[in-house]
Amino acid sequence: MKGIILAGGTGTRLKELTKVTNKHLLPIYDKPMIYFPINTLKDAGIESVMIVTDKRRTSDFLLLLGSGEDYKLRFTYALQESAKGIADALNKARDFANKDDITVILGDNILFGNTDFLKEPLKKSCRIFLKEVKDPERFGIAYIKDNKIEKIIEKPKRSMSNLAIIGLYQYKNNVFDIIEKINPSKRNELEITDVNKYFLNNDEMEYKIIDNDWIDAGTIESLFIASEMERNLSHHA
Ligand code: G1P
Repeated sequence: MKGIILAGGTGTRLKELTKVTNKHLLPIYDKPMIYFPINTLKDAGIESVMIVTDKRRTSDFLLLLGSGEDYKLRFTYALQESAKGIADALNKARDFANKDDITVILGDNILFGNTDFLKEPLKKSCRIFLKEVKDPERFGIAYIKDNKIEKIIEKPKRSMSNLAIIGLYQYKNNVFDIIEKINPSKRNELEITDVNKYFLNNDEMEYKIIDNDWIDAGTIESLFIASEMERNLSHHA
């Protein structure tokens, strides 16, 4: 299993904070945000990690993280020329993944607690992770009936389900062929939800509902809350 951290994007929801730096380098309490997804992958026993970032900031990531030696990991870097979506960023990891299965995490997704569940071998081509939220309109949402996912919708306006699809995905290597098949969305991006829908429609999707505390730190408010969560946890440690 190889790991991929998607750390590109323009971070527009963070307004002034991302004018001169990349979102994933901003602090969550006492650490740069990117340390959290790195640790999630490391805890899952993954040793080789690719970081996909935007070309304006690649050198900052290199300065911060280097070869990975300090983290007892191997880092590889790829750059996204422009913000063309999560699935486009993932496609940059095709050669890196080679024939291996992959765990993909969005660089602003902060998971607390044990993530041993990532070590479970994949039964299907795609595994997604779900967490109950109060604000489903902010996320990709899964609708479950009789323990099966019926459908997934990206940021529904009103939702009967509050099970958010977190920014953590596991795929078999055929994911790269699927990315080639999907079309850009209305906002002209290759959407990860469209890739996942393909797997769902072909009965190639499994899911796990997680108990971990989780936050997508991509907004001003959630960035602040993530820092508070980390502060509380590190003070009690
Ligand atoms: C992305 C995905 C969405 C997912 C979310 C998790 O949204 O498109 O399905 O629920 O990450 O953080 P974004 O935060 O890029 O708008």
